[in-house]
Amino acid sequence: MKWCSDYEIGVEPIDAQHRELVRRAERLLAAVEQGDSAEVGRTLTFLRVYVVEHFGAEQAAMAASGYPLADVHAEEHALFAHRLIALEAEHASAPASPWLATKLTVELASWLRQHILGLDRDLGRFLRGSASGQ
Ligand SMILES: [Fe+2]
Ligand SMILES: [Fe+2]
Repeated sequence: MKWCSDYEIGVEPIDAQHRELVRRAERLLAAVEQGDSAEVGRTLTFLRVYVVEHFGAEQAAMAASGYPLADVHAEEHALFAHRLIALEAEHASAPASPWLATKLTVELASWLRQHILGLDRDLGRFLRGSASGQ
């Protein structure tokens, strides 16, 4: 889950927010490998604020630029936020579950690969094109 240039979409503050997410995912993975399940709760707390701020920033940029895939993109955000709520409920009933720790790690890894490398990168290309007047 290391940060690599493929994750870079070329738009700030979105890239800075993505870097922060990768850092948190790495920290969670390291904690899980050491059997420290307390990081799961900290990561979920971080994500609760993160999804509001980060998805809000992307969706505001989409609305302001007239990005054509805004609805599809926002739908993926909503699904992720929904899965997060389910994980929070699981965490409330079993805070030390190693299974939950693994599930959250897998969830973040697939989000980075599928969403950031997919729709977020596409949004970045669009925003950079709009900014340069293409
Ligand atoms: Fe996104
Ligand atoms: Fe994003």
